[in-house]
Amino acid sequence: MASRKKPVVLVTRKLPERVEERMRELFDVRLNSKDWPLGADDLAEGIKSVDVLVPTLTDRIDEKLIAQAGPRLKLIANFGNGVDHIDVVAAAAAGITVTNTPGVLTEDTADATMALILAMPRRIVEGAGVMLDGDWDGWSPTWMLGHRITGKQLGIIGMGRIGQAVARRARAFKLEINYHNRRPVAKTIEKELEATYWESLDQMLARMDIISINCPHTPATYHLLSARRLKLIRKDAYIVNTARGEVIDESTLTRLIDSGAIAGAALDVFEHEPAVNPRLLKLAREGKVILLPHLGSATIEGRLAMGDKVVINIKTFFDGHKPPDRVLPKML
Ligand code: DGY
Repeated sequence: MASRKKPVVLVTRKLPERVEERMRELFDVRLNSKDWPLGADDLAEGIKSVDVLVPTLTDRIDEKLIAQAGPRLKLIANFGNGVDHIDVVAAAAAGITVTNTPGVLTEDTADATMALILAMPRRIVEGAGVMLDGDWDGWSPTWMLGHRITGKQLGIIGMGRIGQAVARRARAFKLEINYHNRRPVAKTIEKELEATYWESLDQMLARMDIISINCPHTPATYHLLSARRLKLIRKDAYIVNTARGEVIDESTLTRLIDSGAIAGAALDVFEHEPAVNPRLLKLAREGKVILLPHLGSATIEGRLAMGDKVVINIKTFFDGHKPPDRVLPKML
């Protein structure tokens, strides 16, 4: 039997060595040896002559770019879970399949979220900063007091895989679980997590001590925490966001924290990544916010598992089957 040609695959960012090695074995792969994103022109040029594009969240795969793809491009196999940087509708219209890497980032992202849920009210990062600055004068009964975690109301926005994994961890810390989602989760899950469903996001926001954003960024969730909704949040409440910056009106959030209308926020993601609002940096220095550089899923194990998923999606597609992690416009 004549051997089939290997698909030509363009990878936009440096991936872990083991993933790149596997891709070299299986595909005719064009790797990016530099660890920075391809420019828009290089990306447009690159997709003219390949069968598969493997982008990451730092690439903008919009309608304009998709229109420049060569006729061979049939698959966009995203290295990542979120697909808000890809115009999935334009890809489908152009006959291009889109896949992502769900499931393998769940536990890591939930761990990072839980760390922030604990760190913000307990002032962990602020305390570490005092030590680094050499400013500690010794223990005091009234100094640097934070807030207790046990018994507080946690409101999870987005009760998918990651939201549920956060809830499981939060139960162990004796937080009360509340959630808002498009639809309630199965009764068995609600029971296991002892979770209360709030159909009205507004009503939930007004009653929570800690709010965790765990929904994807889609047209429907852009600025879900709008200026109006942010003003419903209690003065002593904290917000944690490990999902996408665009879900919160970041400028209003910054203003409300600065004025004391919201107690604080722990943010791993930003509306205009990698740019960070300088007013947020000022609040971080004042201990009112914690800022992390999009570390939610940043584990070696997770990145390798993401790579495995990308490889499986490409292999399955070129073996003539539906890849397991297809993203369809109706799923958004
Ligand atoms: C994703 O895959 O969407 C994550 O945000 C990457 O960390």
